[in-house]
Amino acid sequence: MEALIAVLPGDGIGPEVCTEGLRVLDAVADQYGHQFKCSEQLIGGAAIDATGNPFPADTRAACAESDAVILGAVGGPKWSDPNAPVRPEQGILALRANLEVFANIRPVKIIDALTDASPIKADRLGGVDIIVIRELTGGIYFGKKTRDENLASDLCIYERHEVERIIRVAARLAGERRGKLCSIDKANVLETSRFWRDVTVRTMEAEFPDIEIEHMLVDAAAMHLINRPATFDVMVTENMFGDILTDEASMLAGSMGMLPSASLGETRRGLYEPIHGSAPDIAGQGLANPCGMIASIAMMLRLSFGLDDESAAIEAAIDSTIEDGIRTADIAGVDHASTGTVGMTDAIIQRLH
Ligand code: IPM
Ligand code: MG
Repeated sequence: MEALIAVLPGDGIGPEVCTEGLRVLDAVADQYGHQFKCSEQLIGGAAIDATGNPFPADTRAACAESDAVILGAVGGPKWSDPNAPVRPEQGILALRANLEVFANIRPVKIIDALTDASPIKADRLGGVDIIVIRELTGGIYFGKKTRDENLASDLCIYERHEVERIIRVAARLAGERRGKLCSIDKANVLETSRFWRDVTVRTMEAEFPDIEIEHMLVDAAAMHLINRPATFDVMVTENMFGDILTDEASMLAGSMGMLPSASLGETRRGLYEPIHGSAPDIAGQGLANPCGMIASIAMMLRLSFGLDDESAAIEAAIDSTIEDGIRTADIAGVDHASTGTVGMTDAIIQRLH
């Protein structure tokens, strides 16, 4: 097949992991006879430096005509003055809103050989296989913000259709898995959460009577994720709770560096990014773990292009690389790292078949 991909490397380790992800994509293209045309564009701090805008018009145009978008990471100390008029993170938020990718899919699966890399005791980790569906284009991230000398506010707002459509995505996925869905909210305090719960109950009753639905408060979910992670399957939640819980859940897998994400809307055009940030402390040193990005590319092949075999081949290559003991610093401790960003990717490409 042929596809056009917008590549937004961004800041910090973003460009390094993008380069490595694209090497894997090239290897897959060669092996399976596909043509992926990539158009590299600015986002985040790099875009602020070059144009003053974290999501410039050229980037928006390239994304609009692409079949999928790959994002590295944005942000860094250079742009983190809280009083700065523009911030790199606004670039990601504008990108998500612009692509209308309201469903952020973050799988947390544990590779057995990595249980030692997790700070959680190994006996809790057996069988952990969670997918968090995070609502990505609404809630407190996008509500009106105000600020004066003595007061600041962020409005958290959800409309019925926004809740319905994310619940549908999660319920369909639950139907393909264990038939159970856990919706996370804070309905004991927040009106938006009571609304979320109400709309969820109605949508599930009307459209997914066979899926078992459980409602859990976000504070309890944060605890249970550590205490009994293997009991979760598909979790669905609003934007900010999803942001927080997925960072927490990433620790089950040993490192944020391992985990991919996909963001989808009503079309097949998706946004694919590792869940880690720009890690300015290790940027440019060849230390970053490229697995989260490479696994995100595997998600792209499956979800945007329907290339299941190619996607599975990449995932299997990542697993066997880890099983063979090849480790970047984040999953091995600095003293034990056996390789860096490029070496890890080489090892994955070698195992692609
Ligand atoms: C994430 C990140 C972003 C978010 C930041 C960089 C805006 O933390 O993708 O989880 O909060 O959504
Ligand atoms: Mg986050």
